[in-house]
Amino acid sequence: MSTAFRIAPSILSADFARLGEEVKTVIAAGADWIHFDVMDNHYVPNLTFGPMICQALKPHAVRADGSPVPMDVHMMVQPVDALAQAFAQAGADLISFHPDAVLHPHRSVQAIRAAGCQVGLVFNPALPLDVLDWLIDDIDLILIMSVNPGFGGQSFIDSALRKVQAARKRIDASGRDIRLEVDGGIKAGNIRRVADAGADTFVAGSAIFGQPDYGAVIAQMRHELQK
Ligand code: DX5
Ligand code: ZN
Repeated sequence: MSTAFRIAPSILSADFARLGEEVKTVIAAGADWIHFDVMDNHYVPNLTFGPMICQALKPHAVRADGSPVPMDVHMMVQPVDALAQAFAQAGADLISFHPDAVLHPHRSVQAIRAAGCQVGLVFNPALPLDVLDWLIDDIDLILIMSVNPGFGGQSFIDSALRKVQAARKRIDASGRDIRLEVDGGIKAGNIRRVADAGADTFVAGSAIFGQPDYGAVIAQMRHELQK
């Protein structure tokens, strides 16, 4: 199992008028992944960006040494399949979708993998983990929502911690190398609790982009994680 923690800033809270620059700045500030929130005004009551923006940002998602920074695409859309293929073509490295948004989650998982991407399943606050009974051997990432999807800047829902613990048990029992990511309301003040519950990958939007010094926030988060 990979144990290194990853911080995945969500560009949902970045300055949309300067997205490329924001991606570069947050990578220089220490981002491990770029979290890309796709919303369709149907599955969630908000509308953000699609594959063309992902493709435009891809060349900016590199570190100073030239190594690529994974584009972590979180699809809050319905239907999923055709758009997932477009994101694979646009340079997504990981593509996660909500199993309740599709009729055939197993088929969607296989299609994303066949397109050359890592694949994740996302669980809303009130959704059980049951589909993992049948899909854990086929995925690379589990994403636990700690807010209802659709907006940045919401408060962390505490019951997500129990779900993270339950997901961690399932990952450990599977013996597979699966990332456990948590999304929504994460800040330096609660990241340690989320890690203690078993998460290894942390999305943070407003906590990072809402402050003038992204590097200071990410450093504070890492400091909490190392305690
Ligand atoms: C919510 C998105 C999140 C969001 C998190 O639907 O999936 O990724 O950007 O934002 P914060 O960190 O502000 O809660
Ligand atoms: Zn997200």
